[in-house]
Amino acid sequence: MSWFACLLLETCHVKKVLGIRLVLINSCLSNSKEVFLPHPWTPTSWQGLPIKQQPVYEHPEALQEVLAKISAYPPLVFSGEVDQLKSQLAKAGRGEAFLLQGGDCAERFQDCNQSMITNKIKIMLQMSVILCYGARKPVVRVGRIAGQYAKPRSKPTEVVRGQELPVFRGDNINGFAPSAESRKPDPNRLLEAYHHSALTLNYLRALTKGGFADLHYPEHWDLSFVKKASSRQTYEQIVANIHDAISFMESIGGEEDWLRAVDYYTSHEGLLLNYEAAQTRFVPAQNAYYNLGAHMLWIGDRTRSLSGAHMEYFRGIKNPIGLKVGPSAEVSDILAIIERLNPDQTPGRLVLISRFGKGQVHKLQPFVEAVKAKKLAVVWSVDPMHGNGSQTEDGIKTRDFGAILSELEDTLTLHKQEGSILGGVHFELTGDDVTECVGGASGLTVRDLDLNYETYCDPRLNYAQSLEMAFLISRMLQPA
Ligand code: PEP
Ligand code: CO
Repeated sequence: MSWFACLLLETCHVKKVLGIRLVLINSCLSNSKEVFLPHPWTPTSWQGLPIKQQPVYEHPEALQEVLAKISAYPPLVFSGEVDQLKSQLAKAGRGEAFLLQGGDCAERFQDCNQSMITNKIKIMLQMSVILCYGARKPVVRVGRIAGQYAKPRSKPTEVVRGQELPVFRGDNINGFAPSAESRKPDPNRLLEAYHHSALTLNYLRALTKGGFADLHYPEHWDLSFVKKASSRQTYEQIVANIHDAISFMESIGGEEDWLRAVDYYTSHEGLLLNYEAAQTRFVPAQNAYYNLGAHMLWIGDRTRSLSGAHMEYFRGIKNPIGLKVGPSAEVSDILAIIERLNPDQTPGRLVLISRFGKGQVHKLQPFVEAVKAKKLAVVWSVDPMHGNGSQTEDGIKTRDFGAILSELEDTLTLHKQEGSILGGVHFELTGDDVTECVGGASGLTVRDLDLNYETYCDPRLNYAQSLEMAFLISRMLQPA
């Protein structure tokens, strides 16, 4: 007990000593503080800790059967790819590359088909070339794809036509249809999620390695979703710029392969810890555990509690990790999380994704300042989507292109002012012609929203809005 007493006397803050966890009353501060003493980690050492946003299954034994099957299936990605992504993210952290992370808010099983996957890849490829052209640096492409099914929700239930129902939590948990039966969590959906992720990833790899990503083919740049005559001109200029970008790349030589086959990484929110544990494998060559269900996983704004199950799970996997940082975050908590998740300060391990909303970016300043002062190895990215949600008078969820752009601009300016580096961006977007976000050059208004409103969760930038956003960012990133 003496070391314990010493610890109490010696510190008023978090200390690491031995393999146990305890909560003690810190007499120095006379408030309750958790002292984290790293214990042996396993893929399931999070079990028993406070956990949020998990479904409750009617038949836990059915869940266990499904998880056993998933653990026995082949992994979806290879640990070498995960390490490669980490080293590319390290470059983004140093300002030598730029991260483009984007895709659906919630992937849907029904969208697992040729044209939808092709369009998702196409828009990300096009955006990456535009960004690369503007920023004059390589772009690291990370899709919210091949596993981005589970959604954290603000309320456990909702009222639909007078009936209170459990909320929809993502295609891997329950059904979107508003009935009590469909909203019951079904463990077989986890199996379906694994299969749909594998199908998506398989086609994604075919597209990015098999010739589709070859930027010499003009049909990849078709602008069929850009309808407004006044906007066409802008976009034709965009296409001309893209071809200009291609000849630029070719003129600097050595980039030919980059133009024909590209790296494209997968990511999703690591929300359902049972599923993520089943995807976690020991890699003997690295003497470490990896989550091989995706290259990168992120911790959402609602599950980043320092003492919670998610933090415990994430500290033990070697993947690059994203961490959403929103208005509810405290600087001291984020610093403690950085220490917990990246104690060795490995570059590229941790991507902090700020999401404060338009007009709120000043709140990011103390975080940037603290990270800089402590010389912590993080990659800063910005998600200008999740702080900019609004509802129309009819209760439809939307986001305004101008608000998204404004948060982006302010975030970039803040990092510049602080002598920090904005290493990437994070978007909810799609390659299809949906009508979910308002604004942009195509002039989408609230009245247009019901034309093609598809998302199961948050509104995404459509094809034309995404392309336009890429051009605006690319201009912002242009070297002086
Ligand atoms: C998300 O990225 O889909 C999400 C829910 O974001 P956040 O955790 O930042 O709210
Ligand atoms: Co979302």
